[in-house]
Amino acid sequence: MRKQIENRDDLTLLVATFYDKIRADKEIGFFFSETITNWEEHLEKLTDFWETNLFASKKYQGNPIIAHNAVDKKFDQQITSAIFGIWLNLWFATLDELFEGENVDILKRRARKMGTFLFMNIFESRRKA
Ligand code: HEM
Repeated sequence: MRKQIENRDDLTLLVATFYDKIRADKEIGFFFSETITNWEEHLEKLTDFWETNLFASKKYQGNPIIAHNAVDKKFDQQITSAIFGIWLNLWFATLDELFEGENVDILKRRARKMGTFLFMNIFESRRKA
């Protein structure tokens, strides 16, 4: 039986497994491998992000909108809805592979919402560019 997502250790495993898939993906891996220089730091930051999101820990203090607008600019506005679709499918696949229960559904829903929000903000930032 797969386990429930109960604590930070579970999120550490989730984030590490997810980014292994991201890095191996032929269509979207390069956005990450060409941008992220310190993977240990990135995985820690993303674990903070999801811990703050799910367990209200307040550890994550960053701004994902600014970060993603900058990535889109760096790659000459190459980020499409299909890229976000691949990201989301890998997120869902990782969640289903490792865990089950209510928090799996919550993390799917939050990522879907956030993906839409980030993508729309990317469009807005292009208009201003
Ligand atoms: C629901 C979708 C997504 C979520 C929830 C998400 C979340 C995050 C978060 C929280 C960060 C850290 C931002 C910070 O520095 O504080 C980040 C960084 C990053 N994301 Fe995403 N992301 C999503 C989709 C994507 C997609 C589709 C791409 C593909 C281009 C992407 C590429 C990156 C990259 C390259 C960074 C590193 C930025 C840097 O360190 O300069 N993300 N993401």
